[in-house]
Amino acid sequence: MNRQPVEGFSKLSKEGKIEWLVNEYLQGDPKAINTLKQYWNDDTDLQQLHDDFSENTISNFYMPFGLAPNFLINDQLYTIPMAVEESSVVAAASKAAKFWLERGGFKTTVLSTTKLGHVHFMFSGSPAQLQAIFQNTIKAQLIEDTNEITHNMRGRGGGIIALELIDKTAELADYFQIKASFETVDSMGANFINSCLEQFAKTLRSLIDQSSELNHQEKESLQIVMCILSNYTPDCIVRAEVSCPVDQLAEGEVTSEEFIEKFSRAVRIAEIEPYRATTHNKGIMNGIDAVVIATGNDFRAVEACAHTYASKDGHYSSLTHCEVKDGIFRFWLDLPIALGTIGGLTTLHPLVKLALSVLGKPSASELMGIVAVAGLAQNFGALRSLVTTGIQKGHMKMHLMNILNQLEATEEEKNHFLIFFKDKTVSHHMVIQEFCQLRGVNSIEELNLNK
Ligand code: MEV
Repeated sequence: MNRQPVEGFSKLSKEGKIEWLVNEYLQGDPKAINTLKQYWNDDTDLQQLHDDFSENTISNFYMPFGLAPNFLINDQLYTIPMAVEESSVVAAASKAAKFWLERGGFKTTVLSTTKLGHVHFMFSGSPAQLQAIFQNTIKAQLIEDTNEITHNMRGRGGGIIALELIDKTAELADYFQIKASFETVDSMGANFINSCLEQFAKTLRSLIDQSSELNHQEKESLQIVMCILSNYTPDCIVRAEVSCPVDQLAEGEVTSEEFIEKFSRAVRIAEIEPYRATTHNKGIMNGIDAVVIATGNDFRAVEACAHTYASKDGHYSSLTHCEVKDGIFRFWLDLPIALGTIGGLTTLHPLVKLALSVLGKPSASELMGIVAVAGLAQNFGALRSLVTTGIQKGHMKMHLMNILNQLEATEEEKNHFLIFFKDKTVSHHMVIQEFCQLRGVNSIEELNLNK
């Protein structure tokens, strides 16, 4: 099909955008219009709120909002809200929570809360001379010129913690950075950090231009490349851990020794083998992202940071680790993560507000711990299944409902399947076979589904 670029799309009304979409891409299908509109909220204020979160919005995209109860964290009981579409995630988290509830629960420690941003710039004069000017005049002026921007943050106990000039010329000719460290207390701080950085760049430009120590050519060589926070926050880091006497790990037919051997081996493999580490960490992120989304935080930032951290030793590795020492099994996750519990969506999105209330309106540091616990629990649950029963037993049981919904099964048929698979491992093929038998047809095509 020969399509033409669209002009002024953002200026079309919501109806206009839908009409354009359906005509251009969906062969004018009236069902597509219904599909989009059935997700509109009747409450027009609420709908407007969601429309305003983004650009060119035409509908809402639902995500299941679930609860994982029984999380004992630092001796306090939590129910953790999770927004996630993968069927087994909340169930696995709840199961792991229950397991550790009976063994002392989870402990969290915020190791540090420093966030970073950089002014990236080019300068072709002497690095030593630039460093001297930076230390003698520029640094103090950077603080001074951002006093207005940092006023409120300082009032809340945050602000600029440190400023450094970093010489990167060995890696890229003429490349320098102002590396700025910030404390942003309960806000994620992206806007605050970026505003400070942009002011730093202006101050830098003006002080270099005025400098009596630099010649014309050196002054002219200064080029600001960009001012932006770093989503890599290795100094904004929390540890979540569980531990218990070794003999408390026996379950069913699996002895403690057997469990520890299998579990530790699985962790070691993820530590040394990037193919496994990627999937291992993906499982951790299943728990982390679900809480990050439910609490209105930026899961892309959290993902990017976690994976950079997982590569910090030169190869991609596991984010979790375990050990047995003096008869105690210990399993932990160190997670660098920048979160906010004020600002952004946290006060705007009604479900996010509710999720934060369910968690007891945590500070950003407390939320760091809760999120890390969700990741650790998820990983514990996944590894426990993987090294004992295998993952598919639980996964396919959860996936059964998805298959049955695709087949447009009635409630009665769904109940039949729950009984049918009580003592069998679910497979797609078996579900189809049994479904055809129930409906008295030879093949699924005969049912003419979704037509
Ligand atoms: C699936 O979403 C996550 C797992 O693959 C994680 C893992 O393998 O550790 C089960």
